[in-house]
Amino acid sequence: MGEYKVRDVSLADKGKIAVEWAQAQMHVLSRLRARLSKEKPLRGVRVAACMHVTKETAVLMLTLRDAGAEVALAASNPLSTQDHVAAYLATEGIHVYAWRGMSPQEYFTAIATAASISPTITMDDGGDLTVMLHKIAHGVQEGLDYEIGSKLLSPEVVKGVRGGTEETTTGVIRLKALEREGRLLYPVIAVNDSRTKYLFDNRFGTGQSTIDGIMRATNILLAGKTVVVAGYGWVGRGIAWRARGMGARVVVVETDPVKALEAYYEGFYVTDMISAAAMGDVFITATGNVNVIRREHMERMKDGAILANSGHFNVEISLKDLEDLAIGKRRINEVVEEYTLRDGRRLYLLAEGRLVNLVAAEGHPSEVMDLSFANQALAVLLLARKAEKLRAKVYRLPRSIDDKVARLKLEALGVRIEKLTEEQKKYLMSWSI
Ligand SMILES: NC(=O)c1ccc[n+]([C@@H]2O[C@H](COP(=O)([O-])OP(=O)(O)OC[C@H]3O[C@@H](n4cnc5c(N)ncnc54)[C@H](O)[C@@H]3O)[C@@H](O)[C@H]2O)c1
Repeated sequence: MGEYKVRDVSLADKGKIAVEWAQAQMHVLSRLRARLSKEKPLRGVRVAACMHVTKETAVLMLTLRDAGAEVALAASNPLSTQDHVAAYLATEGIHVYAWRGMSPQEYFTAIATAASISPTITMDDGGDLTVMLHKIAHGVQEGLDYEIGSKLLSPEVVKGVRGGTEETTTGVIRLKALEREGRLLYPVIAVNDSRTKYLFDNRFGTGQSTIDGIMRATNILLAGKTVVVAGYGWVGRGIAWRARGMGARVVVVETDPVKALEAYYEGFYVTDMISAAAMGDVFITATGNVNVIRREHMERMKDGAILANSGHFNVEISLKDLEDLAIGKRRINEVVEEYTLRDGRRLYLLAEGRLVNLVAAEGHPSEVMDLSFANQALAVLLLARKAEKLRAKVYRLPRSIDDKVARLKLEALGVRIEKLTEEQKKYLMSWSI
C-alpha cells in the first residue's frame, strides 16, 4: 500500500465490489486496461490527479497504475468522495487523499499532498490542482489554495510537469484564461472538448444523474412540477430533456440568444430568471457561472421551492444571499436544508449548492464515464509519448481518437454502422460532380 488518507480503510471490500460493478459497464476502458497492463507504456510516469473519487474514477486510476504509472489521487470536491471506493484504492497502491465531508483546509491539503509526488502528468476536474501549481510557480499569493499549497510544494514542482488533462467545462475555462494571459506553463489536453466526452457525459450523464440526485434527496414527484433549468449548454439541455421526460413542465433560462432560441424551438418555455423565479417548484443551475440565482430571485420564489446546482462549483446559487434572507435553518436530511425566510416562506437547498448529482447520487452512470475516461487514458498516453512536441497551450484530442472511442463503444454495444463506398468517398471529395 502507498501513502493514503481516507475515512475508513476497512470499507475496501465494499469498494472493490462497487469498482468491479462499474468496470463491467466500462467496455472501452476495460479493453484499454487489458492492453496497457501488458505493454506498460506509463513506466516512470508519475500522475497526480484531482478528480471526483467515484467507482468510475477508480477504474481509470487502476488502468493508469496497471499501465506502469505511480498514481496519487485527491478529491475534486469536498462532498463527492465515495468513501468505500477511496478505501479500496488505498489498498491497491494508489496514494489517495479523499473523504466525504472534507473542510476547505483538508481539501486543499489533499490536493497539495497528491502533488507532492512531483508529477510528470497532472489530471484535473475543475482546475484546482493546475491552478494551485500555477499560483505557486507564479507567486500569486491569493486564496486558501496558495496559502496551503505553498507550504507543502516548491515552485519547482511545476517544472517537472510535462503535461496535463482537464475533465470539465469550468476547468477548461480557467485553463484558457491562463493561456490568454500567457501564464500557462505546460500543455493541457481539454478532454471535455472531445465530442465523445461532452455530447454524452455532460448531456446524458449529468442529465440523468441530476434528476437522480434530486429524487434521492427529496423523493418528490416530478410529474406536473415546474422545473427551471438555468443554462442550455450540454449539461443544461441534458437536464431539461430528462426533466421533461419525467413529466415536468420545464422552463429554460439562458443568456446566449442562439441557445435560447434552440430551447424555444425544442418546445421549452424560455424566459429570464426574474420571471422564472415566481414559476418554479424546482430550480437547477448548470451554467458554470456565478450568482445565477440570487436575492432578487429568492425573494420572488414560492414557498417550498427546491434549489439545486449541477455546475462545477457551489457558486451558482448565492449561498450568501440565502443565508442573509433566512431567519432560520434546519436540516431535513443529509443533503437537504430548509431555510425559513422572514415572511414564513421556506426554500430548500440541496447538497449545499454543490453538484447535486455527485453529492446526492453517485454521479454519472458508469457506461457514460467509460467514454470520458477512455479519452482521459488516451490523453495521458499521448502526453507520455509526445508532450515535448506540444507547447504550453490548451489542446483538444485529435478527431481520430474520438472516432476510435466511438467505434469501440459501438462494437461493445453490438451496433453496426454504415461504411462509405469508394464511390461515395470520391463523391464527397469532388467539386465538379
Ligand atoms: N455535475 C456534473 O457532473 C457535471 C458534468 C459536466 C459538466 N459540469 C459542469 O456544468 C457546468 C456547465 O457545463 P456545460 O458543459 O453545459 O457548459 P456550456 O458552456 O455548454 O453551457 C453553459 C451554458 O450556461 C449559459 N449561461 C451562462 N451564464 C448564465 C446565466 N447567468 N443564466 C443562464 N444561463 C447562463 C451559457 O450561455 C451556456 O449556454 C460547468 O460548470 C461544468 O464544469 C458538471
